[in-house]
Amino acid sequence: MEREVETIEIQLLLEGIYRRYGYDFRDYVSDYILRRVHDQMERQNRNTISEYQSNVLHQPACFAEFLLSLSIQVTAMFRNPGFYLAFRQHVVPQLREMPFFRIWHAGCSTGEEVFSMAILLKEVGLYDRCRIYATDMNEAVLEQATSGIFPLASMQAYTTNYLQAGGLRDFSQWYTAQYNHAIFHPSLKQNMVFAQHNLVTDRSFNEFHVIICRNVMIYFNKSLQIRVLNLLYESLSVQGILGLGSGETIHFTNQESCYTPLTPTVQLYRKWR
Ligand SMILES: C[S@@+](CC[C@H](N)C(=O)[O-])C[C@H]1O[C@@H](n2cnc3c(N)ncnc32)[C@H](O)[C@@H]1O
Repeated sequence: MEREVETIEIQLLLEGIYRRYGYDFRDYVSDYILRRVHDQMERQNRNTISEYQSNVLHQPACFAEFLLSLSIQVTAMFRNPGFYLAFRQHVVPQLREMPFFRIWHAGCSTGEEVFSMAILLKEVGLYDRCRIYATDMNEAVLEQATSGIFPLASMQAYTTNYLQAGGLRDFSQWYTAQYNHAIFHPSLKQNMVFAQHNLVTDRSFNEFHVIICRNVMIYFNKSLQIRVLNLLYESLSVQGILGLGSGETIHFTNQESCYTPLTPTVQLYRKWR
């Protein structure tokens, strides 16, 4: 019975958030949302979701905290290094043929993957030909992303990732250490544009040659995954490249036949129609 009441409460909460703030979490994986809500309830000493709902609807700061709890996720530079290695091997040759290309990082969080891509493109001499659009639903994480400053304590792990990803230099050349921070070279930001964009409620805003959307759709239920994959498909040029996270796939969609996998092990696909 408790569980049934909670299911009703969570539906009401998400409906309320949608109507009050315009963020639509109704098709996110329910266990994931429930965990985040319980965390927030504990922090705010609320015993039931209904009590918590009152806080969220009446206090925008409380909603901002909830939103942040959904956005501050595990992310890393050169996360899953095999993805970047495959990108170097299978996508870079195609990009070399193009005078100019646009990349979209959808759901970029605090920007680690965007700076990783910029470093990769600099090293292969293609950065000057690109424009990187990096978006997330949450402006707070984008602010952090724009700074290009990451914790110094993470650099050891990122160096390992970078080398496994086929990095060509001494990784520490890309940043300056200052106190507890690693400040990445400002030239990496030159062709980056950060903007708020919600994959659930916003439309396509350009045509891209590469779209990277990693570890975002794992939080969506199947029907929302299909909707978002459609948005990405519509935003990608023919011969464009789609990159997903290791737990994400196009297999169950009717677009499967529109893409060719570039490698058997990494989620990189070329749109051919
Ligand atoms: C786990 S992080 C992934 C970050 C990065 N792509 C990576 O793989 O390391 C998921 C990100 O997706 C964002 N996100 C979740 N739902 C979204 C939506 N509807 N539209 C845009 N971004 C969303 C979150 O704010 C969060 O920053």
